[in-house]
Order: sequence, then structure tokens, then C-alpha cells
Amino acid sequence: MKCPHLCILISLILYMAAPALAQTAEGDEMRSTSCLDCHDSDSIKPELRSIPSEWRKSRHYQNNISCHDCHGGDPKDAAMAMSPERGFAGRPQYDQVPDFCGRCHIGILKNYLESGHGKALKTAGTGPNCVTCHGSHDIQKADVSIINEKRCSQCHTYDRAKAMRQALSVTEKKIKDVEDGLRQLKSAGVYTENEDKALFNTQAAFRTLFHSVDVSLIKGRTDEFVTKLEEIEAREKEIFHELGFRRNFSAFLMMVFLGMAVVLMLLSKIGK
Ligand code: HEC
Ligand code: HEC
Ligand code: HEC
Ligand code: HEC
Ligand code: HEC
Repeated sequence: MKCPHLCILISLILYMAAPALAQTAEGDEMRSTSCLDCHDSDSIKPELRSIPSEWRKSRHYQNNISCHDCHGGDPKDAAMAMSPERGFAGRPQYDQVPDFCGRCHIGILKNYLESGHGKALKTAGTGPNCVTCHGSHDIQKADVSIINEKRCSQCHTYDRAKAMRQALSVTEKKIKDVEDGLRQLKSAGVYTENEDKALFNTQAAFRTLFHSVDVSLIKGRTDEFVTKLEEIEAREKEIFHELGFRRNFSAFLMMVFLGMAVVLMLLSKIGK
């Protein structure tokens, strides 16, 4: 008779704890893989030993993308970790890098392959690959600061890159304004999930576009992106307005109550 109750209780507890348990399992997998056991140790030659610590600072680490997610191989079996049968792909050659990264960044790969850069890489091996601009293990959140004279004048004059940066700057500035607005709303305690999502989607679509390195394409689509961002901005202003109204209204109520309190006090004094 007791068992059903106990069983129900235990399964209820397990059910509620499952997300937390799954999370620790995932976290452990990130922290201890066969790859890291070796690559964090002195058995690796000195010039490669900084790779794990670079990776731990990256955007990929923050999003649970580990060594084997990029390089393949078996993260659970040290003996077979780097065997091709377990899908180990090794170090990608210069011209293999776009496909290597593009498995996950599909939209970006598409724009890149159609671009002057992608075509120059495929035909003559002269175009930059993803690593040229983003690095490999210490990859950070991307923005227009990647476009700078040092990086972009290795193969051609900086003029082209500058035109690109200017074309992006209108939309990037708008993105920044919208982000600032959302930050202010958040610090005022407002829940902005819908606006966050709208910004994320617009931003992702826009930043994919850079990889076309097509200045006129980006100029041509700037209005469309700015309009989308202005819609989010308008919504922010609306929320600010409501917030101000609510503040004024509560201040008004406060005054009314204070006034009433004073009147009541005076009345009670007169009564005596
Ligand atoms: C038993 C120890 C060991 C394990 C386990 C291990 N590695 Fe390695 N790995 C090495 C050594 C040693 C090298 C060669 C570097 C050197 O000369 O020091 C290497 C080289 C590499 C290279 C460069 C290969 C090339 O073609 O230049 C990559 C990429 C790599 N490992 C990724 C991984 C990944 C991903 C895993 C887990 C799935 C992993 N390793 C597991 C010891 C290991
Ligand atoms: C985001 C994908 C990605 C992740 C995650 C990643 N790597 Fe790499 N790794 C690369 C790329 C791309 C290269 C080739 C770099 C180049 O061409 O300059 C590379 C190169 C290497 C090399 C060869 C370096 C050399 O100079 O010969 C080793 C060793 C290596 N990775 C190990 C690791 C280990 C260990 C981890 C986990 C701590 C890891 N990688 C995580 C993408 C990744
Ligand atoms: C196994 C899937 C996978 C592979 C392979 C991969 N990435 Fe990522 N990458 C992700 C995920 C997931 C994120 C985090 C979500 C996001 O920001 O888009 C990310 C984030 C990024 C970001 C930051 C985006 C931002 O927020 O500004 C850059 C840049 C990036 N990756 C470049 C690369 C490059 C370059 C390579 C190849 C060396 C690569 N990725 C390989 C999955 C992957
Ligand atoms: C010529 C330099 C260059 C090359 C080559 C390049 N990128 Fe980028 N990437 C950038 C710049 C610049 C941005 C930021 C654009 C912006 O802020 O509008 C960016 C943005 C990104 C983002 C962030 C998008 C987002 O949603 O915020 C990812 C992911 C990314 N690149 C991955 C890749 C991958 C994968 C490749 C190879 C197929 C690649 N990049 C090749 C310069 C480059
Ligand atoms: C590894 C060499 C290399 C690097 C680094 C490089 N480029 Fe290029 N770029 C090329 C090649 C090759 C072409 C296409 C051939 C040509 O038109 O000269 C090109 C073409 C371009 C074009 C013209 C595309 C078109 O379709 O008209 C622009 C714009 C451009 N690059 C911007 C940039 C920016 C921005 C950066 C820095 C983030 C950069 N490039 C870094 C090699 C490079």
C-alpha cells in the first residue's frame, strides 16, 4: 500500500530535479573530456598549451561548444579520441575552414561562399577565411570593430573595408540605440523579452549580410533594417511613456492621500 505513494513521491522529486541534474551533467561534460585531459597537460607541446585557456574565454565555451564539437573525435575515450573512425577531423586546412565553421553557421557560410572573399578562396586560395577575421579558439562576440586597417589591408587597400564599415555604421548605430533603450528599461525593472527577441533576430539577419562584402547590397537593405529597428525603438518609447505615466499617477495619488491626511488631522483638531 505504501509503495505507490512512495514511488509517486520519488518520481515527483526526480521529475523536479531533472533539469538541474541534466545541467550538471552537461557542465561536467564541458569541463572534463578526454580532449581536455590531454590538452590541458604537459604532454602537449608548449606552443599548443594555451589553446584550452583561450577557448575558456570564448563565446563558444559560454555556449557549450567544446573541442570535439568543432574537431570531432571521441570526448569519452582517450585511446580513440583522435581516431578518424570516431569522426576526428584534425586541424582544418586553410580552404576547409569555411565548411568546418559553416556546419553550424549556415546562413553566414552561404553569404560568404557567394562573396568576393569566398570565391577568391575557392578559386585562387587568396580570400580570407573565417579564422582570418574571427580567430579560432578565442572567438568573441562579433561587431564592426573587426573591420580595421591592420586586418583589412593585408590583401588590398583599406578603402574597400572603409566603405564597408561606413555602410554598416548606420544600422549598427541604430542597434546600439535600441540596446541602450532595452538596458534602461531593464534597470527600471521592465520585462522586455519580446523586444529582446526582435532585436536578436534583426541583428543576426543583418550581421550575416556583412559576409557578402557587397557594399551596395548592404546600402540597399539598410532602410529595411533601420525600419525594423525603429519599430522596436517605438515600442521602447511607448513603454517609457507608460512608465512615466504610472510614476506621475502614483505621485498624484500620493499627493491626494497626503492632502486628505492633513485635512483629517486638521478636522480632528478642530473637533477637540
Ligand atoms: C592521449 C592524449 C590526447 C587526447 C585524449 C586528445 N589529444 Fe589531441 N593531441 C594530442 C597530442 C600529443 C597532439 C599533437 C600535438 C603535439 O605535438 O603536442 C594532439 C593534436 C591535436 C590536434 C592537432 C592535429 C593536427 O592535425 O595538427 C587537434 C585538432 C586535437 N589534438 C584535438 C583533439 C580533440 C578534439 C580531442 C578529443 C576528442 C583530443 N585532441 C584528444 C593528445 C591528445
Ligand atoms: C570553434 C571551433 C573550434 C573549437 C571549439 C576548438 N577548435 Fe581547435 N582549431 C579550430 C580551427 C579552425 C583550427 C585551425 C586554426 C588555424 O587554421 O589557424 C584549430 C586548430 C587546432 C589545433 C592545431 C593548432 C596548430 O597550431 O597546429 C589544435 C591542437 C586544436 N585546435 C585543439 C583544440 C582543443 C584542445 C580544443 C578544446 C579546448 C579546440 N581545439 C577547440 C577550431 C576549433
Ligand atoms: C558545433 C557548432 C559550431 C561550430 C562548428 C562553430 N560555431 Fe561559432 N557559434 C556556435 C554557437 C552555438 C554560438 C553561440 C550562439 C551565437 O552567438 O550565435 C557561436 C558563436 C559564434 C560567434 C559569436 C557570434 C556573436 O554573438 O557575435 C562567432 C564570431 C562564431 N561563432 C564564429 C565561428 C567560427 C569562426 C567557427 C569556426 C572556426 C565557428 N564559429 C564554429 C556554434 C558553432
Ligand atoms: C573579412 C572578415 C570576415 C570573414 C572572412 C568572416 N567574418 Fe564573420 N564577421 C565579420 C564581421 C566584421 C562581423 C560583424 C558584422 C557586423 O557587426 O555587422 C562578423 C559577424 C559574424 C558572426 C556574428 C553574427 C551575429 O549574429 O551577430 C558570426 C557567427 C560570424 N561572423 C561567423 C563567421 C563564419 C562562420 C565565417 C566563415 C564562413 C566568417 N564569419 C567569415 C568578419 C568576417
Ligand atoms: C587574406 C586576404 C584578405 C583579407 C585579410 C581581406 N580581404 Fe577583402 N578581398 C580579398 C580578395 C582576394 C578579394 C576579391 C578579389 C578582389 O576583388 O581583389 C577581396 C574583396 C573585398 C571587397 C570587394 C568585394 C566585392 O565583391 O566587390 C571588399 C568590400 C572587401 N574585400 C572587404 C574586406 C574587409 C572589410 C576586410 C577586413 C575585415 C577584408 N576585406 C580583408 C582578400 C582579403
